[in-house]
Amino acid sequence: MTRTTNRESVVIELGKSSEDSADHRSSAKPAPELLVTIDGPAGTGKSTVARELAHKLGVDFLDTGAMYRAATALAIDASIPRDDEAAIVKLVESADLRFDWGADPPDLRAFAKSVMHRLRDTDVTAEVSPVSALPGVREILVHIQRRIGSEHSRLVSEGRDQGSVVFPDADVKIYLDASPRVRAQRRAAQLLREGKGDAADVDINQIEAEITERDQRDRSRSVGPLVCPKDAIRFDTSDLPQSEVVEGLLEIVVSALRAKDPTGKKQG
Ligand code: DC
Repeated sequence: MTRTTNRESVVIELGKSSEDSADHRSSAKPAPELLVTIDGPAGTGKSTVARELAHKLGVDFLDTGAMYRAATALAIDASIPRDDEAAIVKLVESADLRFDWGADPPDLRAFAKSVMHRLRDTDVTAEVSPVSALPGVREILVHIQRRIGSEHSRLVSEGRDQGSVVFPDADVKIYLDASPRVRAQRRAAQLLREGKGDAADVDINQIEAEITERDQRDRSRSVGPLVCPKDAIRFDTSDLPQSEVVEGLLEIVVSALRAKDPTGKKQG
């Protein structure tokens, strides 16, 4: 996708919330364009910190993992086997997946109905990796993501291929990482928080093994493999609380933009 280059300014109004930015959007001066991608493996806390980063920057947030989860939920609920690519592709195409951007977080809809309640269910989590490896499914979802990118000029887009495949000319590319053990601990805490298991059946060692296996699969697949984009800034979140990760990301975004354009003005 080609982003327009007639940007006003890349100075990000740090510390402003999205409410502030609504004022900004309604002012006569057009808002500066900004596309930040956040790639990386599962369990690094990507979605949460990316959402928070978008909020602090006052820009929209695209959760692409939610789209792969929605495709998976649709396939499961229609009793389509996960390897029946043609049937899944047909179903996802006809579902007209789209976000309602008026909701916070944006409400992901398929067949005009919200699918948000299904996204984190254990059956969906178990099946999403193979479904997201289907080239036809990736093709549709990448197409929708690029369309969203062209419609939202100020966006943080999160998902393992956002900087490497979907938006290769993003303004700032970040690759979030964390050790498999830490990622397993975070996933276990999330399951407990969401009531998807109790302390007795949440087994950290098993979750860690599943994460390592999923990474392997995701790194070695032929379409949209998990890679750190060449020009991405790598950020290890293993030893940091979420608030510090978000602050770190804010600093990365601001200094990357300053490095590209020290005057704070982009050339048109
Ligand atoms: O980030 P998440 O756990 O919600 O992602 C769900 C799954 O979708 C996970 O297996 C990775 C996959 N995914 C993908 O292949 N490409 C993306 N852009 C986002 C997620």
